[in-house]
Amino acid sequence: MSRGGAVRRVLVTGGAGFIGSALCEALVGGGHEVTAYDNLLLGRRAFLAPLEGNPRFAFVEADLLDAPRLARALDGHDLVFHMAANSDIERGTRQTDLDLRLGTLATYNVLESMRTVGVREIVFASTSAVYGDRPAVVPTPETYGPLFPISFYGASKLACEALMSAFAHACSMRCWIFRFGNVIGRNGTHGAAFDFIRRLREDPRLLRVLGDGRQAKPYLHVSDCVEGMLFGHARAGEEINCFNLTTDGATAVRAIAEAVVRETGCRGARIEYAGGERGWPGDVPQVRLDGSRLAALGWRPRLGSDEAVARGVRELVAQYFGANGEGA
Ligand SMILES: NC(=O)c1ccc[n+]([C@@H]2O[C@H](COP(=O)([O-])OP(=O)(O)OC[C@H]3O[C@@H](n4cnc5c(N)ncnc54)[C@H](O)[C@@H]3O)[C@@H](O)[C@H]2O)c1
Repeated sequence: MSRGGAVRRVLVTGGAGFIGSALCEALVGGGHEVTAYDNLLLGRRAFLAPLEGNPRFAFVEADLLDAPRLARALDGHDLVFHMAANSDIERGTRQTDLDLRLGTLATYNVLESMRTVGVREIVFASTSAVYGDRPAVVPTPETYGPLFPISFYGASKLACEALMSAFAHACSMRCWIFRFGNVIGRNGTHGAAFDFIRRLREDPRLLRVLGDGRQAKPYLHVSDCVEGMLFGHARAGEEINCFNLTTDGATAVRAIAEAVVRETGCRGARIEYAGGERGWPGDVPQVRLDGSRLAALGWRPRLGSDEAVARGVRELVAQYFGANGEGA
């Protein structure tokens, strides 16, 4: 990430989350000074344990909706990685202001604080959910539109992208928008594999799966997700840089359920599918992303979708299910 090799002072919102904590480790490992800013609503301080005591790392427990606190924390930094959001997409369909507050308003606060204290670069975790249901072009490229998301989460992410574009233009900022597929790996806190492990802990004989199990999405291992963002930020320098961050293939929910049953050793478990093509209203059952824009700059994920799932499931089972597991 080091533009010109310089040490950067980086604030990571959502730094105690699944992806944010892995990003903090990579940034500190790369010699940068890092502040993780997180309200611990969905993240865990324990994910940052490897960085505790490191002089190049600081943690601020605070909410992005507390604008004065955010501006104070941001002052003196060069760059923001904005990873914080509501990652419980399904909950957002029942509580319809959740993504508005934790996504759109929180992002507005980040951008406005950047304007106030003079920080000009932001890297943003967006999502394939902005493309909506059944996009006409598959695999879907970044140029696809018009964009009509079907979840409040996707709607909020699209609004955040639009805010970033406006701030970039009006306030001489630059933004790097990465639209992820599904990300998997150690310290995951949500998603199909995490959910299946939690269910098997409760009942090792039965695994209930939302939908018909044929939902299939591209999975990216968290290490590739972090590397891809750092690579794209270092190599692209337009005012607005937008990339799908993805593997080429896709992995079905059914395969993830079977992998979790296998890895947990619950071999007798019956897998019961609730039926219906999607897990919940707002779930996009089929996602395929075109990753060629970032590939043209020279980046490819180390693991394909099935490999990412195999490794991610092993890591999550070891963390949350094993004899020494933390409990999902
Ligand atoms: N994990 C995926 O598969 C995936 C896919 C697409 C996009 N994304 C995006 O990547 C980013 C990181 O996702 P993740 O999987 O690590 O989720 P996560 O829930 O583990 O991390 C999000 C973090 O943000 C924090 N947070 C939320 N609201 C906050 C607020 N108002 N103030 C301060 N902190 C707040 C949470 O406590 C949490 O630690 C999110 O923006 C998410 O939308 C993730």
